[in-house]
Amino acid sequence: MQNAPYILAIESSCDDTSAALLRGTQVISNEVASQAVHEAFGGVVPELASRAHQQNIVPVVDRALKVANIKPQELSAIAFTNGPGLLGSLLVGTSFAKSMAMALNIPLLPVHHMHAHVLAHLIADAHPEPIEFPFLCLTVSGGHTQLIEVRSPNDMIVLGETIDDAVGEAFDKAAKILGLPYPGGPHIDRLSASGDASFMKFNESNLPDYNFSFSGMKTSFLYALQKEMKTNPNFINHHLNDICASYQHALVQVLMKKVAAAQKFTGISKVAIAGGVSANSGLRDALTTWGAKNNISIYLPPIEYTTDNAAMIGIAGYYQYLQGANAPLSTSAQAKLKF
Ligand code: KG4
Ligand code: ZN
Repeated sequence: MQNAPYILAIESSCDDTSAALLRGTQVISNEVASQAVHEAFGGVVPELASRAHQQNIVPVVDRALKVANIKPQELSAIAFTNGPGLLGSLLVGTSFAKSMAMALNIPLLPVHHMHAHVLAHLIADAHPEPIEFPFLCLTVSGGHTQLIEVRSPNDMIVLGETIDDAVGEAFDKAAKILGLPYPGGPHIDRLSASGDASFMKFNESNLPDYNFSFSGMKTSFLYALQKEMKTNPNFINHHLNDICASYQHALVQVLMKKVAAAQKFTGISKVAIAGGVSANSGLRDALTTWGAKNNISIYLPPIEYTTDNAAMIGIAGYYQYLQGANAPLSTSAQAKLKF
């Protein structure tokens, strides 16, 4: 990696302000400032998110450069998330990246947030042996649930996706009903560890092909709890771990069914997961067990590359850089960006 480029990457699509420095595929720094301000509201408040990005962006970039011991003049390009996400949040990272690329006169690399979650698997320290193409990737986050066939860094197709809520939303909304803090996914995961997954059953949707639906399960979760609480008002307190374990199990089952079907259809024997929900231990265990049983290689991302981070934006930017990309300074942030 003698002449590998130094890429500064910026992520600000939702409620994490992150900056990373990559040398080629190697991550030298990856700084994340999370926004505690949303906890009191039980979800991300877009207006507060953009204000917090505005406060965080300069210190976070400064830290990423200092930790990597790189001066702005040494940078080869700037990568940033231009969508999809919250517009006010995206605008902060986009404006910062464009200004810095202009000041340094270096290429500007706009990155699709969901491509980046997938490409996190190509970061040098993500796996002991590099993942080879093609592979399938189940991308599961707070805003998306997608099954992707990844043919190369710049060639991916969506095999299926959610028609309503994302699976991360299904975790977070159920957690809110249970009175757990936001984001609820990690809390449900933690509480599930000592719960009985067969305690309750919920209605699982069964869409054809590789598409998902989670809004029905969330409603089924709410109705099941309301029914139990009529006879036992303390039902949630008494059975919190079992409720969490049952719900997590049901969500993981839905994801696993589609992964297995897509694997069978494509015949691709490498399967990865990405996005915030890929940190879930129930999903990781289910996938690992299924892979071992069916002779499928499973790729679980390191935890720091699961939730939103700029290192994944940097690796996506790196593959654009290799192709000579350089977006015009008129490039804009887009809340809805085609995959
Ligand atoms: O990828 P991400 O950081 O942001 C988006 O692009 O949406 O994903 C955030 C989502 C949240 O819904 C959060 O609850 C979920 O990831 N999450 C988890 C876990 N860790 C994060 N869900 C279940 N189990 C976890 N361990
Ligand atoms: Zn994300």
